Amino acid sequence: MSTSAAERAPGVAPGDGFAARARGLTKAYGTGETTVLALDSVDVDIARGRFTAVMGPSGSGKSTLMHCLAGLDTVSAGQVWLGDTEITGLKDQELTRLRRDRIGFMFQSFNLIPTLNARENITLPIDIAGRRPDGEWLDRVIDTLGLRDRLRHRPAQLSGGQQQRVACARALASRPELIFADEPTGNLDSRAGLEVLGFLRESVDRLGQTVVMVTHDPGAAAHSDLVLFLADGRIVDEMRQPTAESVLERMKRFDMSRAAGKD
Ligand SMILES: Nc1ncnc2c1ncn2[C@@H]1O[C@H](COP(=O)(O)OP(=O)(O)O)[C@@H](O)[C@H]1O
Ligand SMILES: [Mg+2]
Repeated sequence: MSTSAAERAPGVAPGDGFAARARGLTKAYGTGETTVLALDSVDVDIARGRFTAVMGPSGSGKSTLMHCLAGLDTVSAGQVWLGDTEITGLKDQELTRLRRDRIGFMFQSFNLIPTLNARENITLPIDIAGRRPDGEWLDRVIDTLGLRDRLRHRPAQLSGGQQQRVACARALASRPELIFADEPTGNLDSRAGLEVLGFLRESVDRLGQTVVMVTHDPGAAAHSDLVLFLADGRIVDEMRQPTAESVLERMKRFDMSRAAGKD
């Protein structure tokens, strides 16, 4: 629902200010009568060097939006750019390389490899890409996340919070332009959740990273600079400088308007 989006001509390449953009992003699952419209012509601008939260009821299209913006899923219609590269229409191989070089992911389930230790999990994407890790950067990530004395542990020997911190370090290890986090604190206790949120916030403020995070939690959203609210596959509202209270208020109003059938 970005006002500037409507003023720009469609198909115009994005400028430096955006880490990702979409125009008319539409995603349908299935065919015929069973079609589900997960995203319904979404226009969105993800500002570079900012922390954006995505909220909305279950099934509103949050994960689909992230996957389409990250090039993890194909779109049914519309255009998506990462930086100034349009990714819709890229060949699989080009897309894979671009994802690998420019994007980091964090999921609710940490997706760590059980047979690898923490350090090996963290550097896995870099190793697969056949690159050398930037040692100084990696040290900074590991120390900031408090993982120094856990590097030789396997996932099963780590707490949930530690596992998520390893997943966070893995997402940051290649110093990606853009980090997508899908409910990264969903499986954590509140203290571990706060640590991860604090680190994401710091990676934006101190390391210039761009973060897009899906969350259900108003307290988690309050760590962001901007909250996008999704409902039924559309961005229906946005809120700058959110607080836990203001986000909660906004969510309550949605619930009331939905209950009244206005939504
Ligand atoms: N692979 C899939 N096949 C069919 N329907 C899907 C698939 N993934 C998501 N959906 C549907 O698309 C809608 C949006 O899903 P999703 O993006 O996962 O929502 P959220 O992350 O907000 O809970 C839901 O109705 C969901 O059931
Ligand atoms: Mg989801």
